[in-house]
Amino acid sequence: MTDTPQRIAVVGGGTMGRGIAQTALTAGREVVLCDVSEAVLDKAREAIDGGLRRLVDKGRLEADAAEAALARLSVTTRMADLADATVIV
Ligand SMILES: NC(=O)c1ccc[n+]([C@@H]2O[C@H](COP(=O)([O-])OP(=O)(O)OC[C@H]3O[C@@H](n4cnc5c(N)ncnc54)[C@H](O)[C@@H]3O)[C@@H](O)[C@H]2O)c1
Repeated sequence: MTDTPQRIAVVGGGTMGRGIAQTALTAGREVVLCDVSEAVLDKAREAIDGGLRRLVDKGRLEADAAEAALARLSVTTRMADLADATVIV
C-alpha cells in the first residue's frame, strides 16, 4: 500500500474532465468519471480512447498500456459511485 491515491473520481465528463481522467489513467490510476449525461460519458470514453491511441501512435505509450489504461476507466451518472475514491476532482 502506498500513500499515492489509487482511485480517482472526476466529476464532469466534458473538456476538462476527460483530460484529467486520461492523465490519471496513463499514470496508472483507476478512474471513475461522473456526469449527469450518459451521452457525454459515451463521448468521453471515445475521446479518451482516441487520446490514448494518439499517444501510442506517437510512441509515448505502449499499446498494451493504452488498453490497460482504458480498462481502468469506469463511468457513472451516480454520485454514490464515487464514495470509495481516494481523491475527487
Ligand atoms: N475548458 C477549459 O479550458 C477550462 C480551463 C480552466 C477551468 N475550466 C473550468 O473547468 C470546469 C469544467 O469545464 P469544461 O470546459 O470541462 O466544461 P464542459 O462543459 O466541457 O463540461 C462540463 C461537464 O460537467 C457536467 N456536469 C454539470 N453538472 C454536473 C453535475 N452536477 N454532476 C456531474 N456532471 C455535471 C456537464 O454535463 C458537462 O459534461 C468549469 O468550471 C470551467 O470553468 C475549464
